[in-house]
Amino acid sequence: MIPFTKPIIEDEEIQAVTSVLKSGMLAEGKIAHEFEKQFGEYIGTKYATVTSNGTTALTTALEAMGIQPGDEVITSPFTFIASANSIAILGGIPVFVDIKPDTYNIDPNLIDAAITKKTRAIMPVHIFGMPCDMKHIMEIAEKHDLLVIEDACQAHGAEIDGKHVGSLGHVGCFSFYATKNILTGEGGMITTDDEELYDKMLMIKNHGRGKEGGYSHYQIGYNNRMMDIVAAIGVTQMKRIKELVTKRRQNAKEYDKFFSDFNEIMPQVEDHGFSSGYHLYAPRLYSDKITRDEMVSALRAEGVGARPVYALPCHKQNTYLNIQKWRWAKFVDYPDYSQLSLPISEEVGASHFDIPVHPSLIKEEKETIQEAFKKILA
Ligand SMILES: Cc1ncc(COP(=O)(O)O)c(C=O)c1O
Repeated sequence: MIPFTKPIIEDEEIQAVTSVLKSGMLAEGKIAHEFEKQFGEYIGTKYATVTSNGTTALTTALEAMGIQPGDEVITSPFTFIASANSIAILGGIPVFVDIKPDTYNIDPNLIDAAITKKTRAIMPVHIFGMPCDMKHIMEIAEKHDLLVIEDACQAHGAEIDGKHVGSLGHVGCFSFYATKNILTGEGGMITTDDEELYDKMLMIKNHGRGKEGGYSHYQIGYNNRMMDIVAAIGVTQMKRIKELVTKRRQNAKEYDKFFSDFNEIMPQVEDHGFSSGYHLYAPRLYSDKITRDEMVSALRAEGVGARPVYALPCHKQNTYLNIQKWRWAKFVDYPDYSQLSLPISEEVGASHFDIPVHPSLIKEEKETIQEAFKKILA
């Protein structure tokens, strides 16, 4: 089976980790700070700080933004559940706004109607690495005095007009989970230009510890830090980030060209000036001859590691259907998510599937994938 992902760990990563282990300085320290410096420079923000994973990047940032129980945060239903959960963990209410059928990203034209007196922030999610329409989203945010937290957990290397996502909202959050464009196994990063938010985030992720270090604490916080052992992998991966993203994009563009001959397959659309990081390549299937699930099974039978990804959008997940069982429900008036109809996210959920686009794909594997489609759709 051609896997949908293949982590690239080379001798250099192993040596970097070994050297941290030998140094005896295992926890967050100078290697993590080097990773922050390099990643911040790459994304183009003044500040960057590591976290233990992408979810803690999101919760740290949301908490620094002042999200309180009962506050509403507008986000996409078509995402990994961590986007919504990071809001709900803090007692916030995820307000799901439907997506655009071509980009699979939140539809900015629907955001205004979802804004209430309780709305505090917008969390666009650059799904599969495809940038959201940040210009439009920032205009809405400015008009309503809302903060914008970009969930860029899948979008390392994604750009709009040459600017990296993660630098376009007030805060950007990244994940370095084992399948991501660059990885550390588990790991995260928050990027921002806002010094005040940055200072708050440093406290929140480190038990409210003051800048002077030691055992002076000023507020309740968490341990959302990253170990230097982990950061050493990140620093090494940074040397290859451009090359890794370029390879993903090349693979994706080959697929786009190939699928232009098939009416049944509609790739995710990259708008003019937008550049996806192609964390995943996930087209939709429109056919009356074969269902999406049959397509996935047929591809797998041909040795292609295809999958439906978010077949169930967040509002259809038991987590949100059963939100009344969540501890904050005693204090927070949640909507009845079962009444929510978000037809585009449901339709994309039912019609999309992903195929391997990772940078380790070799020519023969790409040929096998294309031959599999030709055979199945013949
Ligand atoms: C869109 C999105 N948001 C948030 C997360 C959470 O990141 P992590 O798994 O590192 O906690 C992920 C991770 O896979 C993700 O894909």
